Amino acid sequence: MSIEKEIQRRRTFGIISHPDAGKTTLTEKLLLFGGAIQKAGAVKSSKIDMHARSDWMEIEKQRGISVATSVMGFDYRDMKINLLDTPGHQDFAEDTYRTLTAVDSVVMVIDCVKGVEIQTEKLMEVCRMRSTPVLCFINKLDREGRDPYELLDEVEEKLNIKVRPMSWPISMGKDFRGVYSMYEKKLVLFQGSKQQLSDEIVEIEDLNDSSLEELVGERNAEQLREDVELIEGVYPELDMEEYLNGEVAPVFFGSAVNNFGVRELLDCFVDIAPVPMERETDERVIKPEENKFSGFIFKIHANMDPNHRNRIAFVRICAGKFERGKNYHHVRLDKKFRFSNVTAFMAQSKEVIDEAYPGDIVGVYDTGNLKIGDTLSEGEKGMYKGIPSFSPEIFREVINMDAMKSKQLEKGLSQLMDEGVAQLFTYEMGSRKVVGTVGALQFEVIQHRLLNEYGAKVQFQPMNLFKACWISSENDQKMNEFIASKQRHIAKDKDGKLVFMAETKAWLQMVQDNFPEIDYHFTSEF
Ligand code: G4P
Repeated sequence: MSIEKEIQRRRTFGIISHPDAGKTTLTEKLLLFGGAIQKAGAVKSSKIDMHARSDWMEIEKQRGISVATSVMGFDYRDMKINLLDTPGHQDFAEDTYRTLTAVDSVVMVIDCVKGVEIQTEKLMEVCRMRSTPVLCFINKLDREGRDPYELLDEVEEKLNIKVRPMSWPISMGKDFRGVYSMYEKKLVLFQGSKQQLSDEIVEIEDLNDSSLEELVGERNAEQLREDVELIEGVYPELDMEEYLNGEVAPVFFGSAVNNFGVRELLDCFVDIAPVPMERETDERVIKPEENKFSGFIFKIHANMDPNHRNRIAFVRICAGKFERGKNYHHVRLDKKFRFSNVTAFMAQSKEVIDEAYPGDIVGVYDTGNLKIGDTLSEGEKGMYKGIPSFSPEIFREVINMDAMKSKQLEKGLSQLMDEGVAQLFTYEMGSRKVVGTVGALQFEVIQHRLLNEYGAKVQFQPMNLFKACWISSENDQKMNEFIASKQRHIAKDKDGKLVFMAETKAWLQMVQDNFPEIDYHFTSEF
């Protein structure tokens, strides 16, 4: 098959949701439809259970599971679908943000009882940064949820995206009867079965057909006709360009646990979701069909076994064909590397592969040369853009508890930062090291891993910091003045970029007012 054809049949996406909205359940049902798994219950949730917070074995076990389910590839209707898992636990949000740089679109799951929740809002902001196309699945219609119109309004308002319903629920909760798919002009009747994959599907070209009454009852039939008329009147037809620019989200209703509405979502997804598109490096825009391979690393997973210090780096292929055993260029180090042990991820398993195409994710074994954001290529010199670090929310100073193990600590910290576990800031004065994270759980992970994998014992001292802002300025003189005046609060990130460590919100505001020539950035990419 030509590379163009391979690209056309690929759909690479992620599912995002607030924890408990049904991401794991929906993932599982999609895999069932794709024939990648045979029975429900096979996909383990990658979420870290709150009860497991202090149970290390449990967290390690979860980490093990999450590598297996990090990327799930399956075939559906001649398409090769790559579903990237995103950790649901908010302490691992940064991992999710990075994974979103490797997808071409997302499916967002919303619980119809709870509506738009905080984590969904945050994830949507990340999608918006990259104009990622979003399809929305409103889940749990078998429960008494909120009014569907109200839910749609909430999505528009809180997520700042227009919506276009593609299906419409017929009642909900105990009375839930099914959905009418405006996209396919089909009535899908709810059976309420978790086991069955086929629902009763009735083609209804004309909703005025009197058979509707027989199928859903008089009251529901009338209501559905009214609703559909209203929707068609209020919401314009789905504009594909707007969808692909992330401006409008097609919306489906269903119940993942009951396997209901999932096939309709998947069929529409396969029809409309974007194929791998061109991507930008700091030198030029690269098209997927170019014949030379290039891709970037968005995730690194360390082997938890201290005897096998290798790691798996996840490469998103952006252009050309990737071939096992070929020499590729490591752009940051300006060196050639050869990857002979390359895996593709199928649902639940890894398998060695010989070649992969744009949109695919491959895992390469690494002994410490790769870090998140690295570009691999067949000669191309530019680095792919778009893997920012976000300003962390919690900061703690690293205290070395064993002076004899400074080297191990240095190495351990550096490797964990390459994996993107957290961010390290080193103060210019006194070389104090501060770790910044999105959630408190990471400190436990770091402490545990430093000790077990590197033999370095640390403690963390809480610090009163509000934000780390990356700073830049067109005016060198002003920049120097700023650094001189704020010396004690200037640090460098892992790449040596200058960061201003602001202690409070009010103080940051004051500094911004006093030094307007400085640009303050809340992500590392600007
Ligand atoms: P997450 O990955 O987004 O965190 O959510 P997950 O799929 O784990 O689903 C969270 C809970 O919601 C699960 O129940 C799941 O069974 C339930 N759920 C998912 N889809 C539906 C739906 O369509 N209707 C209803 N009523 N519930 C749904 P749980 O009790 O936490 O776990 P379990 O014991 O059922 O597995």
